[in-house]
Amino acid sequence: MTERKILVTGGSGKLSAEVIKTLLEDFNIQPKQLIVTTRKADKLLALSAKGVDVREADFTSPESLEKAFKGADSLLLVSIDASGPRTQAHLNAVKAAEKVGVSHIVYTSMPSAENSPVIFAHEHDATEKAIKQSTIANATILRNNWYFENVSEYFASILQSGQWLTSAAEGRSAQLSRRDLAYAGASALIKPIEGKVTLPMNGVQSMTHAAMAKVIDKVLGTSINMVHLSDEDYQAQLESFELPTPIVDLCVTMDKHNRGNFSDGTSEAFEKLTGKQPQSFEAWLNENEVNLKKVMQSI
Ligand SMILES: NC(=O)c1ccc[n+]([C@@H]2O[C@H](COP(=O)([O-])OP(=O)(O)OC[C@H]3O[C@@H](n4cnc5c(N)ncnc54)[C@H](OP(=O)(O)O)[C@@H]3O)[C@@H](O)[C@H]2O)c1
Repeated sequence: MTERKILVTGGSGKLSAEVIKTLLEDFNIQPKQLIVTTRKADKLLALSAKGVDVREADFTSPESLEKAFKGADSLLLVSIDASGPRTQAHLNAVKAAEKVGVSHIVYTSMPSAENSPVIFAHEHDATEKAIKQSTIANATILRNNWYFENVSEYFASILQSGQWLTSAAEGRSAQLSRRDLAYAGASALIKPIEGKVTLPMNGVQSMTHAAMAKVIDKVLGTSINMVHLSDEDYQAQLESFELPTPIVDLCVTMDKHNRGNFSDGTSEAFEKLTGKQPQSFEAWLNENEVNLKKVMQSI
């Protein structure tokens, strides 16, 4: 019997790299069982050297995709980072997966994709719908909650200024680490669920922004001041920092989403899929304390 081939897209991205590492190191998937696609194959020479089949694929070039996906049984479609052209790019990838006969697709979506006010939610919603309508027999849609890493990668100003401007009010979000979400992606690939399922991937605690700030203060020794604003005042503040409009719109709609509890939930589905509990925010902060303190000082 031939081994099932597993394909991971976007191999040079942070989530994909962690999924690949998890498959090889934690789940003992043999390199020859793995296909990795990326726009920049020269960045993944170390994987090729291990015997992983690295192929070039760009979701915006549909003609590249069938060749790149050929032979895959299970495919993890990692959502791309370019909002805007994303819907068509994802639909191209779903179509190609369908054409080459992928039998199980895993997709990294977002919480409440169908009714979230986040500016890019419609892109995930359209991708989820295309997957459900496709002839691909099995699909695991992972509605990944927000990464803890966003605190340092997108909202470093909170750590640096000690001011958390927010219109999320008392809304809760069950965030978790990127590494746990990668573990969930790898778990979904190696144990394909039959049929088409949508699973919320949430952290072990659902917290308000103020509760998160208290944990940051405890671990990093900060004294974060919560500045609660209306959507309009939050938008005006962000505009006064001369941030580009798409960033302002993203921040304001994300807080509207958080205020509406669209990212609230429990870690039950994560634990059922992976057989483990996600790392708590406090444990994640402790593990990343050194790097986070560097971010705080890098103004
Ligand atoms: N839940 C959250 O809080 C959160 C936060 C940030 C992002 N995200 C989403 O989750 C995804 C993975 O997160 P990440 O941290 O790994 O982001 P990242 O490091 O910025 O990775 C971006 C990913 O997009 C892929 N990509 C971009 N353009 C592409 C194209 N035209 N065709 C195919 N692949 C393309 C990249 O693949 P190659 O460069 O290898 O081609 C890479 O895997 C992001 O792309 C974004 O959709 C979620």
